[in-house]
Amino acid sequence: MLEQINFTTKSILEKTSNFRPEVGIILGTGLGGLVKEISAEFVIPYEEIPNFPVSTVEGHSGKLIFGELGGKKVMAMQGRFHFYEGYTMQQITFPVRVMKALGVHTLCVSNASGGMNPDFEIGEIMIINDHINLFPTNPLIGKNIAELGPRFPDMSESYDKKLIVSALEIAKTNNIKVSEGSYAGLTGPCFETPAEYRYIRRTGADVVGMSTVPEVIVAKHGGMRVFGVSIVTDLGVEGDVQNVSHEEVQQIAKMQEPKMTLLMKELIRSM
Ligand code: HPA
Repeated sequence: MLEQINFTTKSILEKTSNFRPEVGIILGTGLGGLVKEISAEFVIPYEEIPNFPVSTVEGHSGKLIFGELGGKKVMAMQGRFHFYEGYTMQQITFPVRVMKALGVHTLCVSNASGGMNPDFEIGEIMIINDHINLFPTNPLIGKNIAELGPRFPDMSESYDKKLIVSALEIAKTNNIKVSEGSYAGLTGPCFETPAEYRYIRRTGADVVGMSTVPEVIVAKHGGMRVFGVSIVTDLGVEGDVQNVSHEEVQQIAKMQEPKMTLLMKELIRSM
């Protein structure tokens, strides 16, 4: 894996005249609009990046964008990889390894989720303060590569507390209503049954979704700071589980995109 990471990193550095990003962004659902805010210097489609998987899901196109955002050198992944698409955990998290190798010290992620906390409403913007790995596996399973991180990484502060405080302040200043909570990540692609929402709520999570946890585990393994935000696009609240579709998820996320974009841009500026 180390050889692949180094080869891909070298290839990207050649294509970007040695651009060294400080902040990495995974443009999940709801953050698509952030692309327009980046003064892009280099854009590389995933097909042109050796060892990169190619994304398959509707609403996620695949390219890496290198440029400036909020006065910082950033690289953004437009299009992420999901376990339900059939990729391995190593494939899903490979881009995070490459980010780290390129110089990224802080990873920002977004996602869409189903809300189980009864105080949440559709469209809620939740700053992720912790997660629960409900995937049946972990991207760090296998021989540990000491150059990449420790065998037993600490996860006691997976989502950086200082960044959360900054984000809460930025939200307040800009009149954006946000809440805080924990994200349970699992495989999908089915949305949950009412019994499953009930079960996942009992595990202690506020929202549930099908991404983020693998990337955050690998980011922490590599010693990166992480900030994550989730848009609640549907509710799995006990006794009131409604029908949900991918289209609805996209539509609600789109509605909240301007707020998410502003929040993320200003947070990156404040770093
Ligand atoms: N469950 C899982 N993933 C999701 C949901 C959900 O209810 N909404 C958006 N992504």
